[in-house]
Amino acid sequence: MRVGIDKIGLFTPNKYVDMVDLAHARNEDPNKYLIGIGQSEMSVADQTQDAVSMGINATMKYIDRIDKDKIGLLVFGTESGIDQSKSASLFVKTALKLKPEVRTFEVKEACFGLTAALMIARDFVRVHPDKTAMVIGSDIARYGIGTAGEVTQGAGSVSMLIKADPAILALNDGHSAYSEDINDFWRPNDSKLAMVDGKYSTQVYLDFFSKTFADYKKQKKLETNDFDAIIYHLPFTKMGLKANRLAVADQDEATTEKLQNSFDASKQLSRRVGNIYTASLYMSLLSLLENGNLPAGALVGLFSYGSGAMGELYSGNLVEGYEKEVNAAGDEKMLKRRQKVSVPEYEEIFNTALDDPEDNEELTSDDEKGTWYFAGTKGNIRQ
Ligand code: HMG
Repeated sequence: MRVGIDKIGLFTPNKYVDMVDLAHARNEDPNKYLIGIGQSEMSVADQTQDAVSMGINATMKYIDRIDKDKIGLLVFGTESGIDQSKSASLFVKTALKLKPEVRTFEVKEACFGLTAALMIARDFVRVHPDKTAMVIGSDIARYGIGTAGEVTQGAGSVSMLIKADPAILALNDGHSAYSEDINDFWRPNDSKLAMVDGKYSTQVYLDFFSKTFADYKKQKKLETNDFDAIIYHLPFTKMGLKANRLAVADQDEATTEKLQNSFDASKQLSRRVGNIYTASLYMSLLSLLENGNLPAGALVGLFSYGSGAMGELYSGNLVEGYEKEVNAAGDEKMLKRRQKVSVPEYEEIFNTALDDPEDNEELTSDDEKGTWYFAGTKGNIRQ
């Protein structure tokens, strides 16, 4: 039985910073950000957008095209949790009016969270082929103003429906996983900002990619040139470029060109949105679907990395007609709706969003009508 991704939706908040403006403000050469890091814009979340609201908005992209009563599982992956106890998924379940019989919870392992959710969903659907599963990854990357990581921030969410006989990507059996207890990136409970050993994190990412890619090929008896695309978790697009260079290091010109072209297609959205942690790999997938011109049946390798650290390589095949399931014009419109903010404006939004609003203070959103947003708390209960 084929099980995989049947629907996919992306949401990003309605403000962004231009990387050239940020480079000027930080006294850096703009090419360091544009080429060296590989980012051109960065979405900014104000106080009204958080993991929950972004997750709902991502799901709204396809909710009218699915049978909600068939959903038996809803898993929410995030490292931007809004409660230490109650799952973000329960708020989503209520907003989307899912039935009470749904099994729902939140998972965490840094950026690996959505892949963990996806794998749980895949196995759930295998056991319950008449049911579907919804998985959401939603995050705001915050390193702090003036830090080296600042240029690799971002905000957004990807939501996917997993079902038997999927319309987008059929997942193949097997995977290669690798984990180690290390301190490359983490965020203690008392901090809204991530702590990171930046250079070390990039080395571990590449090391985990090499290990899992080699192991996966061996396990599945595949060669690099069997892949039509390899896509990556993209904390910034240069990171994926470096991994892709490792992937093609010993390949002929044709394979190198093929995998470079597909990588270029997969990084377009990330370049303009920034790091959205759990959802980043799946934003790469969406970008590949929209820009890759790949034929049905194409083999796509997916590399997921979550700091701390956990890496996983798996694959899927594109399903006939997958193009009809994505809306490149709609996603472009969503990016274009964003208002460009100056660096001082971004800094003010950033600092305000670090504080929770006072209880009973009502927040209002300046996003398009119909966008879900966090309206504050009443009696410490989320609205
Ligand atoms: P940095 O130290 O400021 O940058 O921070 P740099 O000095 O290393 O320069 C970056 C690149 O720009 C270099 O290229 C320079 O040569 C180049 P590279 O050697 O890497 O190829 N450069 C220029 N290029 C063109 N023109 C110029 C120019 N000047 C310099 N004029 C760093 C970089 C990534 C360390 C920092 O941004 C950071 O700490 N980011 C956050 C951590 C991160 O994203 N790590 C990625 C791996 S870990 C991961 O993916 C997990 C994560 O998503 C979290 C999770 O799992 O939840 C982060």
